[in-house]
Amino acid sequence: MTSQMLEAEGRVVIITGASRGIGAAIARQLHDDGYSLSLGARDPDVCLSALGTFDETRVMAARFDAEEPESASAWVKATLDRFGRIDVLVNNAGILRMVTFEEDGEADLDALWAVNVKAPYRMIRLCLPHLRQAGHGRIINIASTDAKRYRDETVSIGYAMTKHALLALNHAARFAGWEDGVRATALCPGAVDTDLIAGIPGVTPGPNRIPTETIARTVSFLLTLPDMASVAEMPMNTRLESTI
Ligand SMILES: NC(=O)c1ccc[n+]([C@@H]2O[C@H](COP(=O)([O-])OP(=O)(O)OC[C@H]3O[C@@H](n4cnc5c(N)ncnc54)[C@H](OP(=O)(O)O)[C@@H]3O)[C@@H](O)[C@H]2O)c1
Repeated sequence: MTSQMLEAEGRVVIITGASRGIGAAIARQLHDDGYSLSLGARDPDVCLSALGTFDETRVMAARFDAEEPESASAWVKATLDRFGRIDVLVNNAGILRMVTFEEDGEADLDALWAVNVKAPYRMIRLCLPHLRQAGHGRIINIASTDAKRYRDETVSIGYAMTKHALLALNHAARFAGWEDGVRATALCPGAVDTDLIAGIPGVTPGPNRIPTETIARTVSFLLTLPDMASVAEMPMNTRLESTI
């Protein structure tokens, strides 16, 4: 029945950047919900140790480097070999490098584009046939409030550019998968307490940052929503700003 909330059991989730921060918290939450997990990171062992205790029958980890296309296709194939299906893709891996107009930021722009945009595009392209086949396929793209507006000059221009691009990719995925029951959500949080924003000027101070567990619980909820309750974007802000 498409009108009921979706259950975790039997659904397979593939998560990029599950070694730490938001990705590790999502892995923990979804494991405890009962999903089967395929975790990707540059060092897969780090994903497993970050997860701690887990049900080995429902968890695998593989090498995934956002800058190496072959690692993505090998990981998707290994996931299908192990679990036979892919129900959910969580595009989480991301980097933040400061890019300004004052200095030449082209090398950092290339890195940001590779990790924050090209890799999610690649993962969607590789997973989409399987998400379509799954019946209620889901894609969660971890974007940012920086995908929704340019706040001020303390924000990396490059980071904001790539997160806006990820939002465009999210909407393209919604159209590509809609008829086959695939739904995509861009989750757009403000400051989350992880390594990513350590030392970055202008970010919300530590005690007011969003805990990683809050993001993970939100992803968990989004994955229960049936096809007719599609959430295209979900901004989540630490501060008061117009419309987000
Ligand atoms: N923290 C925030 O305030 C915030 C707010 C909004 C959105 N976000 C977004 O949330 C996502 C997760 O960020 P986070 O805060 O959890 O950051 P984090 O703690 O720095 O973790 C980043 C994750 O991305 C992975 N990663 C980076 N480069 C990679 C590459 N080349 N190949 C494969 N994996 C790579 C890292 O893996 P390694 O361990 O191998 O480096 C790590 O698992 C990002 O997309 C970020 O833009 C964060």
